[in-house]
Amino acid sequence: MFEKLPNHVAIILDGNGRWAKERNLSRSKGHEEGFRNLKRLSKHVFKRGVKYLSVYAFSEENFKRSRDEVKFLMDLFVKGFKKDKTFFHKENIKVIFSGREDKLRKDVKQAMDEIVKLTANNNGGILNICLNYSGQREIVDATIKIINDIQNNKLNTEMITKELFSKYLYQDLPEIDFLIRTSGEYRLSNFMLWQNAYAEFYFPSIYFPDFNEKAFDEALLEYQKRDRRYGNIDYSK
Ligand code: FPP
Repeated sequence: MFEKLPNHVAIILDGNGRWAKERNLSRSKGHEEGFRNLKRLSKHVFKRGVKYLSVYAFSEENFKRSRDEVKFLMDLFVKGFKKDKTFFHKENIKVIFSGREDKLRKDVKQAMDEIVKLTANNNGGILNICLNYSGQREIVDATIKIINDIQNNKLNTEMITKELFSKYLYQDLPEIDFLIRTSGEYRLSNFMLWQNAYAEFYFPSIYFPDFNEKAFDEALLEYQKRDRRYGNIDYSK
């Protein structure tokens, strides 16, 4: 159906709050609806043949939000991962996480562990959930691990290539082909800076809870039109 298919799609799930506000609902309701949508959407994305889907669920900076909102989101993660781990498992989706575990509540880490373990052998698509995540921090953390390995004589500086550096990131993922940020904001917000180096960007104006299967297919249509040159030029054109 689509001639060009991105191997790795990433989505910045933005606009849950505004979606709720427009309907006179609480921000929490917007996040709930966002989570519900993510379930439906991930199934569809993998059905289309995409192999990797990375989503920005909670940034390191999101801890600056009100205590109530942070608590609501953490509760939602616990509830969602516990209740819906069987959904992802049934859909043959492998769930992994990127981010720092420090600052996360014990029950959140436990729910994350459970869904990771249950889905570890699935091969119908990899859902990478970025939680307590910062792209700059990820690069710093990788650098620290590399320095440690150099000090322990496991590495020397000549061995450090782009490919090797990638392996020190939170997850060893292929580069992102297509980055989508919903809600009409045009920012990267510290999201997967390394992996987005050559991504095509797409900024639909709708809020994440409304970014459904049809909206994703429209995004794929837009991707068909992109001419990815990676800094090169096609002189035959
Ligand atoms: C951005 O909307 C969204 C978030 C900070 C949280 C994203 C969380 C979900 C979609 C639900 C759970 C997801 C997973 C993966 C378990 P916003 O609050 O910034 O909206 P606004 O910009 O309109 O205020």
